[in-house]
Amino acid sequence: MECQICGGSGWIIEEKNGRRTAKRCKCKFLLLSKEYLSSSGIPLRYRKCKFKNFKPETPYQLKALKECKEFFFLYPFTEKGILLFGPPGTGKTHLAAATLRNIIEHKGLKGTFCDFRNLLINLRSSFSSSESTKEILDSVRGAPLLVLDDVGAERNTEWAKEILAEIINYRYTENLPTIITTNLRFDILSEESFVAKFDQRTESRLYDMCKILKVEGDDRRKKRSL
Ligand SMILES: Nc1ncnc2c1ncn2[C@@H]1O[C@H](COP(=O)(O)OP(=O)(O)OP(=O)(O)O)[C@@H](O)[C@H]1O
Ligand SMILES: [Mg+2]
Ligand SMILES: [Zn+2]
Repeated sequence: MECQICGGSGWIIEEKNGRRTAKRCKCKFLLLSKEYLSSSGIPLRYRKCKFKNFKPETPYQLKALKECKEFFFLYPFTEKGILLFGPPGTGKTHLAAATLRNIIEHKGLKGTFCDFRNLLINLRSSFSSSESTKEILDSVRGAPLLVLDDVGAERNTEWAKEILAEIINYRYTENLPTIITTNLRFDILSEESFVAKFDQRTESRLYDMCKILKVEGDDRRKKRSL
């Protein structure tokens, strides 16, 4: 059935202070955000992640929740993206997915969720198929908003390093917002540090592009199974 408000055009004309403005009708907004959500790549497991069902148990988690909310409120006028680092099961991917989902649903804007390890697998398999390697990489590095999940969980290779450098450098120069999650550390220098696995040039750009936030707490997955 055609929308009663816009008659199916998807647009409404509003008149305010003598000025006529074309605005998206609610029906079109809903349609678009549904479409954007289903093509966002948010994994099934994280589809239900919201700010509301994130229960912070440590000051780190509280701060991370606040910053992600702030990012959502301000988006698309945010100055910096967000990088969440910390041990497994502390809610990093939950928060990243919730932020992206909110932006799609409430702002009607597009974004992409990309698991870094899956990306490398897809890129590798595209070498031997007709799927274009360039197309896959372009859709990730050029996404208007990118959630790059679980950086550093892949096998340590020069190639992985190059791919990440390529994505980060591109987004840095194009000023595109990025949310990153990783187990690699940014607070200490050890073999678990980001720089031990990737390079300094990439790390340096990340400091400029993202608010770097530590997320510590109990491993929720472990806790749930006890
Ligand atoms: N504070 C929290 N409140 C509610 N649910 C949480 C919280 N922290 C984590 N979870 C839930 O616990 C599970 C694990 O969280 P998540 O996958 O976000 O962890 P992670 O920090 O990304 O871990 P990893 O480093 O292994 O990727 C998810 O189902 C998530 O929804
Ligand atoms: Mg995760
Ligand atoms: Zn309508």
